[in-house]
Amino acid sequence: MSGEKSRPGKPNGKYFGFGERPFLKGAGTRSPEAWFLGTKAENADELEKLIVEAIRDHSFWRRNFHPQDPTHITEQAKRHPSYLHAMDSLKDNLRSLMSFLKKSVPFFSGRYQGHMNWDTSLPSILGYFAAMLYNPNNVAFEGSTSTTILEMIVGDDLCRMLGYTVPEDDDVAKGIVRPWGHITSGGTVANIEAIWSARNLKFYPLSLREALKAEPSLSTARDIEVNTCDGRRAPIATLDAWSLLNLKVDDVLALPARLTEEYGISSDTITKAMSGHSLQHLGMQELCRRCGADVPASPVLFVPATKHYSFPKAAAVLGIGSAHVIDVPVDCDARMSLAALEKMLRDCLEERRPVYTVVAVIGSTEESAVDPLKGVLELRNKLQKEGLSFTVHADAAWGGYFASILRPDEGPRPRDERAGPAPEIGMSGYVTSQFSALGRADSITVDPHKSGYIPYPAGALCYRNSAMRDMVTFKAPYIVHGEAEPNVGIYGLEGSKPGAAVAAVYLSHKVIRPTRSGYGQIHRRALFNCKRFYARLLSMAVPEDRFVIVPVPRLPAEVTGGEVEAELRFIRERIDGRSVDELLSDPEAMALLPEIGPDQNILTYAVNFKHPDGSLNTNLDLANRLNKAIYDRLSLDPGDDIYGYRMIVSTTDLSEEHYGRVFIDDYKRRLGVSSSSGTTVTVLRSTTMEPWILETPEGSMLDVLENELRDAIFKSMMRDSMFQIFEEIDTNRDGVLDVAEVMAKFREKGYADVEIDEFLRLCDIDRSGTVTMDEFLGAFSQFVAKGALTVGR
Ligand SMILES: Cc1ncc(COP(=O)(O)O)c(C=O)c1O
Repeated sequence: MSGEKSRPGKPNGKYFGFGERPFLKGAGTRSPEAWFLGTKAENADELEKLIVEAIRDHSFWRRNFHPQDPTHITEQAKRHPSYLHAMDSLKDNLRSLMSFLKKSVPFFSGRYQGHMNWDTSLPSILGYFAAMLYNPNNVAFEGSTSTTILEMIVGDDLCRMLGYTVPEDDDVAKGIVRPWGHITSGGTVANIEAIWSARNLKFYPLSLREALKAEPSLSTARDIEVNTCDGRRAPIATLDAWSLLNLKVDDVLALPARLTEEYGISSDTITKAMSGHSLQHLGMQELCRRCGADVPASPVLFVPATKHYSFPKAAAVLGIGSAHVIDVPVDCDARMSLAALEKMLRDCLEERRPVYTVVAVIGSTEESAVDPLKGVLELRNKLQKEGLSFTVHADAAWGGYFASILRPDEGPRPRDERAGPAPEIGMSGYVTSQFSALGRADSITVDPHKSGYIPYPAGALCYRNSAMRDMVTFKAPYIVHGEAEPNVGIYGLEGSKPGAAVAAVYLSHKVIRPTRSGYGQIHRRALFNCKRFYARLLSMAVPEDRFVIVPVPRLPAEVTGGEVEAELRFIRERIDGRSVDELLSDPEAMALLPEIGPDQNILTYAVNFKHPDGSLNTNLDLANRLNKAIYDRLSLDPGDDIYGYRMIVSTTDLSEEHYGRVFIDDYKRRLGVSSSSGTTVTVLRSTTMEPWILETPEGSMLDVLENELRDAIFKSMMRDSMFQIFEEIDTNRDGVLDVAEVMAKFREKGYADVEIDEFLRLCDIDRSGTVTMDEFLGAFSQFVAKGALTVGR
């Protein structure tokens, strides 16, 4: 037993001498109805019982720990006035807190179509709550003797979900690369860590070359050779900086183990010898100063224009400088352009500018676009032959859990009790093909607190090769990572971190396995709903409507140059115009459904209006103003009563500066505003995470969403027409209407002076002699309604 205590923590080993060992494997369960509290808190009784059970269980645990120790909170103490006062205060303040919390965003509702947020899973709430009572801190094993073990198990499960193979310990001992993952506070920290490790990895061979020259403790290894990425083999000591800055990832990561295995140098000795030469120790400036002219141009990292802000942040924090984060323009589908990337990488090759990393986003923040990861990996293979190498990081913070769609269930296949096909779909052919390459990315960010339906804070970073984590630690590396030492906290950016978050991920993965019928089922349903919503957006504006809706995702026929009108008709008639049952029994429609709409389940779209003569507005500023007005109606104002909101969406601005001309020009064209000079398009954004079927026996949520959107569009257009009238009257463009301007315009329209006086009296609320936009908007409709003025007389 004492031997066990000194080497605890093998997730699948013998750490637990009694009871059930936690593990993540097996069939899991199949019912989304049992996985969430529900839009009407339908599972409240179950949640309440299990929360009470967790409290009771925890209390027994406390009481059984040295029962002979004194009790401090006696029954007598509980009757003391100050105790009663404190308890009263707790109750009163809790109630006022609970009342204030009602101003929160109703993520659980089908009417919430905004950000990357939805209900959190019941297992995750219970896992979090149960573990929170123990308050484990996963920074170090001493403070988290149960949840650090869970973190290692969860890390492996995430790796498997994403397509990394977790080998048996024996195979690791034989040198097979083992992946590794851990929980972070979120995607931002995971992305920073990924760039941190990539930066250190880039410079490691250079540091080693310097250490080999200077450190007597490494003298036996002075002739150690390495393969360059273009296939030469040479001693590290003789290689120039360019070659060393372009070694292949696994060749760099193998170096510490090779020093031990081939030259008998212990990992502690390597760590000590390297410390005086490493980037981690010296900082970028000093390392480059020492290497002098040998270090070529400043290295860069490439991200798609749709990148999350965490990458410039990472570059700033890591001393790389955000100027060295280069945006790769996106194509018309908001996916990184491979052609542009290749050109930029070739420029680097020519200039001898090292590249840390190319980031492929798997589910972009604004439009859930999936970058061509497969092509990026192929491009790296090609360029390595010419001497350029880099790590490939997949930012799958949003999209990573969709990998569960492709992961077969474990254990026996349960009997499917459903009568027919289910309202679920898979990912498109293109997206599936990118996911099949995920296991070849060097690192992957994936956020359980996004598509894992788990409470904050729970992000994660997974490395294909566990040795990558040693690049960011100050500790001697474990040569064989199969040892799986329980020291997760030393490999990350954070200090203290909640073990409860890990327990939440663990329990959720245990009950809802990240396989096809578990999380895969949730995402297949969410995709079904999202694509149906896309079909509705394409279909809802009929020719008589004074608006059009243009989703950012193009139709397959637009991409391939096919029959766009025919495809639109098909979508209207066979997808949008059908009940769910009819749709499910139409194989042709079900085959098209995964191929339309966004790559995942975030849909961006913009509304444009038509003039009274039926012609489409061509002014981008006016279209943007309309979309902002719609967003204002469909978003929460701080402090507002949420019960007054009937649908909630989010918004974003897509700019040429970031997205590039190809994307913006194409989208402007589709929106009908290409003749406008503006380069930023305001869009609305709906994230569809709910797995509930939108059609119920009582009615269709899709119809509810359409009606709310229609209402918001109509009211915003009305308001916008008034803006336009105001602007027409405000001839000197000073933002207010003076008497002369009003007189001139209204007389031109044939109004009598008495009518105009009445209008001014009603509008000029503060009696300033001029009418502001707010005064105008407040009074104009009343005035029209009173019949005092007939618009367009
Ligand atoms: C693609 C992507 N990466 C990273 C992040 C950052 O994640 P977090 O907010 O958890 O730090 C986000 C957040 O929206 C994201 O969408």
